[in-house]
Amino acid sequence: MRLKIVAANWKMNTRIEEGIILAQKINNFVETYPLEGKRIVLCVPFTHITEAIKVVNYKYISIGAQNCAQWEKGAYTGEVSAEMIASTGAHYVIIGHSERRKYFGESDEVLKNKVNISLKNALRPIFCVGETLEEREKSLQYKVVKAQIENALFHLDEDFLLKVVIAYEPVWAIGTGVNATPEQAQEMHAYIRNVISEKYSEYIADSITILYGGSCNSTNAKDLFSQKDVDGGLIGGASLKADEFIEIIKCL
Ligand code: 13P
Repeated sequence: MRLKIVAANWKMNTRIEEGIILAQKINNFVETYPLEGKRIVLCVPFTHITEAIKVVNYKYISIGAQNCAQWEKGAYTGEVSAEMIASTGAHYVIIGHSERRKYFGESDEVLKNKVNISLKNALRPIFCVGETLEEREKSLQYKVVKAQIENALFHLDEDFLLKVVIAYEPVWAIGTGVNATPEQAQEMHAYIRNVISEKYSEYIADSITILYGGSCNSTNAKDLFSQKDVDGGLIGGASLKADEFIEIIKCL
């Protein structure tokens, strides 16, 4: 049985007091809701991690970061290392979000280093892949996603790969209000499993959690999550309102 996850990506939003109230509200709900085989992950800003950890029950909710440095430690002013993140008690880290690829020029090679460093520090990477609108219009989505996975993950041995969560986030769906249809998501998730199966094994491919992200909300989450190969979601805008995020959790 694959682990099902609803993960929040707060991005660069919330002052700390707002973030803590949001985490508390989600925790209050989750403590009274059956979540066997399921997990909630809140990927909060670096500044919020240590406070957020204090207000959630780790049995149901994990805290994650949204990025980490590609180097272990040293003279890299402004960077935050995987070791630092792990030392707070966080368990997850988003790697390769399209906003990092676009605004910070993170290449597959950089992301490969970040994946390695996260795993070395016992952080589970939530590794994001996805094509742009232009690439989809040219029917390049499979080629693009395959290359993203091959370049940053396929050097890993099986045990490490099993710790990675993959998030399919088509760039054209992020923050646009236009989500991938359940069929489009299912097609890509099945394709990703197939790519992994060819390189590793069917068992490994079947064991990996693959999330969908991009304009996922309480209205479309049920249809998306009910697809055979969709194991939950990575939620941006809709994760910033407790009531909305709780409705999404109910769809898992
Ligand atoms: P939205 O849910 O706001 O479209 O963002 C998705 C996302 O980027 C999650 O990482």
